[in-house]
Amino acid sequence: MDQNELKALVGQEAVKYIQDGMIVGLGTGSTVRYMVDALGKRVQEEGLKIVGVTTSNRTTAQAEGLGITIKDLNDVDHIDLCIDGADEIDTDFNGIKGGGGALLWEKIVNNASTKRMWIVDESKMVPRIGNFGVPVEVIPFGAQHVFNYFEKQGYHPEWRMTDGEKYRTDEHNLIIDLKVGEIADPKALAEDLIHTVGVVEHGLFLNRVDTVIVGRQNGPEVLQV
Ligand code: A5P
Repeated sequence: MDQNELKALVGQEAVKYIQDGMIVGLGTGSTVRYMVDALGKRVQEEGLKIVGVTTSNRTTAQAEGLGITIKDLNDVDHIDLCIDGADEIDTDFNGIKGGGGALLWEKIVNNASTKRMWIVDESKMVPRIGNFGVPVEVIPFGAQHVFNYFEKQGYHPEWRMTDGEKYRTDEHNLIIDLKVGEIADPKALAEDLIHTVGVVEHGLFLNRVDTVIVGRQNGPEVLQV
């Protein structure tokens, strides 16, 4: 199976955990796209009744196009299960997210969820997180000063770019990718980032998952944290 087939496999496996009446957090990314397709199929074919809360405008557009009912996070009092992708997961189940630029809404939805599941192909499982880089969402005002601070800290910052322009998130913020390499102490880095004025959120997701489904050549592997 190639990487896309593994992503489809875990996407299809994840929707088996969704039951009638649930409020479901829908992540963002190419793996989640397969999951939302499979969920749309269950809604259409089985008449499954669920409400989705999305983590990006992209996922909203896809889900609504498939007939999935979407509500604003402010209009629900909880989320039963959030299913999202990840860019890297280490052996302690710390993750990096935000490769797709949706880390802020993803972390807010993750926070509001009773159960959290990540779905990944096996290439995302690593001994230590960091080689992917750490996406950091910053407000545009004074962002260059935040960038300069990261440089001084030795975090090797790079502006996220798209079509020659600085990438804008759904909240119209900017993203700085930190090319830190393997991180010896993710908690310490997370502390520094969140206490940097101008930072809205970062892509280190520490202690934020209950179940990981890994797409392996011999089938999906379900890991309970
Ligand atoms: C979106 O901002 C990300 O957190 C994604 O969940 C993550 O990048 C995984 O994306 P893929 O499934 O496309 O690899």
